[in-house]
Amino acid sequence: MSTTRTISTKAYDDQKPGTSGLRKRVSVFQQAQYLENFIQSTFNALPQLVGGKIILGGDGRYFNNEAVQIILRMAAANGIAEVILGKNSILSTPAASHLIRKYCLSGGFILSASHNPAGPSGDFGIKFNLENGGPAPTSITDKIFEISQTLLEYKIVEGAIDTSRIGQQSLGDMKVTIIDPVTDFANYMENLFDFNAIKALIESDFSFVFDAMSAVSGPYAEEIFGARLGVSANNLFNTRPLPDFGGGHPDPNPVHAKALFDLMYGSDAPNFGTASDGDGDRYIALGSKFYVSPSDCLAIIAANAHLSPGYKDGIQGIARSMPTSRAADKVAERLDIVCHETPTGWKYFGNLMEAGHITICGEESASTSSNHIREKDGLWGVLMWLNIIAVRGQSAEDIVRAHWLKFGRHYYTRHDYEEVEIDRAETVMQTLRGKLFSLAGKKLHGETIEAADSFTYTDPVDGTVTENQGLRVFFESGSRFVMRLSGTGTKGATLRLYLEKYTEPKGDHSLDLADATVNLAKIANTLTDLKTTLNRDAPSVIS
Ligand code: G1P
Ligand code: ZN
Repeated sequence: MSTTRTISTKAYDDQKPGTSGLRKRVSVFQQAQYLENFIQSTFNALPQLVGGKIILGGDGRYFNNEAVQIILRMAAANGIAEVILGKNSILSTPAASHLIRKYCLSGGFILSASHNPAGPSGDFGIKFNLENGGPAPTSITDKIFEISQTLLEYKIVEGAIDTSRIGQQSLGDMKVTIIDPVTDFANYMENLFDFNAIKALIESDFSFVFDAMSAVSGPYAEEIFGARLGVSANNLFNTRPLPDFGGGHPDPNPVHAKALFDLMYGSDAPNFGTASDGDGDRYIALGSKFYVSPSDCLAIIAANAHLSPGYKDGIQGIARSMPTSRAADKVAERLDIVCHETPTGWKYFGNLMEAGHITICGEESASTSSNHIREKDGLWGVLMWLNIIAVRGQSAEDIVRAHWLKFGRHYYTRHDYEEVEIDRAETVMQTLRGKLFSLAGKKLHGETIEAADSFTYTDPVDGTVTENQGLRVFFESGSRFVMRLSGTGTKGATLRLYLEKYTEPKGDHSLDLADATVNLAKIANTLTDLKTTLNRDAPSVIS
């Protein structure tokens, strides 16, 4: 039996969770008592956890294991009855969400900075998910932040857990149950999708590859794609999770997943190529020499979900984050269901799912998921695509082109200006904000502005109002651009510019993406002078 010690601490003033939990440089988390303060603030904000069971695990990045031991010791000191821990402290974000729901836990900590790089000079992150398996809403993260600003002490016990041993151990009065992180999740996927149909596809001359980017999805991919669906190990890349993700940046986009893009655009490209991110909640899909925009993935999955057993009765509704293209809205119109538009970040989908308003949701940042859990889910997205391809018997490209013919094409691209000076980024936003109400009717670079605003979201379930979620400029042509500052960066500011041009079903779907959106980028620059203000000739990443 270990004794609980109460340790005095000094509050930090920067523990405000962003779009997805508290994300900072590893060196920030390594400051004395920094992690402890945030964990204690979370326990203080959620007194209902006392006596409860929680989940714990992370994407295996640098500092994951140290953080897990500290959290376990603090959980024991704060009256948690049991922690369910992924073996070797590893759990993908979707698997953690699933386990919370499956075992009716009170919530849990997920340790990840998602797609941000890892290692001693990389990033680390923590977020708390509630008993529904979804990220804590802003009302709770605000409370954690408030408590953190005046925190005086935290509680901890001595001891350590051998995280490599499946089974039960104890720490103080708390049970720690270490589980195999993969089996439950793989079984769940097998219930949602037609594994026989996918297996037959894989056994045909269809070639499928998956890149785990040396991050958390690797073991899940080996079990699901390899062991259960028969994909050859040679087609599963970088499946061993590494604490620094092999020095890479586990963000599946054209820049950071270049190896996959090169393969898929090379001679003899496989039929279907996919990759997922650091914590396994994002994915990208490419046909042979054909990239499917994540916004299109959402729309196409919504339109075809009924082809998978888990969704055979159709879908209730769709939700997308505001900057995500409106391709999903066209599907919702056709299915006569609602498409909700929420602020950026998965936490806004939770209420809609709990209330039964939506089945499918997604964001332009490479994620789609459904109400099977309360997180985004990379492997789920890949399996959904495989199921659709298997049932329709068409290539990914043919499926996408057929979709455009039916619903029209939303040419869509995102320009990120990363690590810019915060003041300069604010100036760009302020410049546009200051003009919003005078823009309607203006003609620029061949487009006429129809309306402009700053996005405010009113949650239809609990009425919570969230303001300042991005600036939107709409054009009479049906095009749009959106500008917002990232809430997940850890250095300087990241300005995101989202460009979207709509073309009717009978329109020209064969334009080059950059050509189709160049005028919108010019308009954004003319209105804000962003390149001069940010002192950048071009975006850091175009996705
Ligand atoms: C980014 C993405 C957003 C996603 C979030 C967490 O947030 O844009 O869609 O939900 O990461 O993965 P941002 O940096 O834009 O605030
Ligand atoms: Zn992620």
